[in-house]
Amino acid sequence: MSYDISNKITLVTGANRGIGKAIVESFIKHGASKVYAGVRSLDKGEALVAEFGEKVVPIEIDYDNPASIKAAAETADDVQVVVSNAGVLIGAASWTRMSSSNFKPSLTSTSTA
Ligand SMILES: NC(=O)c1ccc[n+]([C@@H]2O[C@H](COP(=O)([O-])OP(=O)(O)OC[C@H]3O[C@@H](n4cnc5c(N)ncnc54)[C@H](OP(=O)(O)O)[C@@H]3O)[C@@H](O)[C@H]2O)c1
Repeated sequence: MSYDISNKITLVTGANRGIGKAIVESFIKHGASKVYAGVRSLDKGEALVAEFGEKVVPIEIDYDNPASIKAAAETADDVQVVVSNAGVLIGAASWTRMSSSNFKPSLTSTSTA
C-alpha cells in the first residue's frame, strides 16, 4: 500500500525525536507542502526547522495539556494528514502496576455505577 504525500499539509506529534522526527524527514523528502511539527515546547522545534527548512512549522502539542491541543487544532486548521505519533513505551511490569493502582479501581467503579 502506498500513499502520495506530495503537496499535502501534514501534522506529526512527538516530532522532535525518534519515529516522529523520521516521519517529518520522510514527509519533507516526499514533497509535503507543510509539516506541522507537534512538540511539547516550541524550542524543541527549532532544530527541525534548521535541519529540514521552513516547510516545517513547530506547533505546541502536549497530550497532557488539553488547551495546547485545542489551540493547535485552531492554528493548524488547514491540515490534511495527521500522524498521532507521540507517546511513551512502558514495560509490562509498569503496565501491570498501573493497571492495579489506576485502572482496576476506576473500571470497577464504572462497571458498578
Ligand atoms: N520505538 C519502538 O520500538 C516503538 C514500538 C511500538 C510503538 N511505539 C510508539 O511509537 C511512538 C514513537 O516512539 P519513539 O520510539 O519514537 O519514542 P521516543 O523516541 O521516546 O519519542 C517520543 C516522542 O513523543 C513525545 N511525547 C511523549 N509524551 C508526550 C506527551 N504527553 N505529549 C506530547 N508529546 C509527547 C516526546 O516528546 P519529548 O521529546 O518532549 O519527550 C517525543 O517527541 C510512541 O507512541 C511509541 O509508544 C514505538
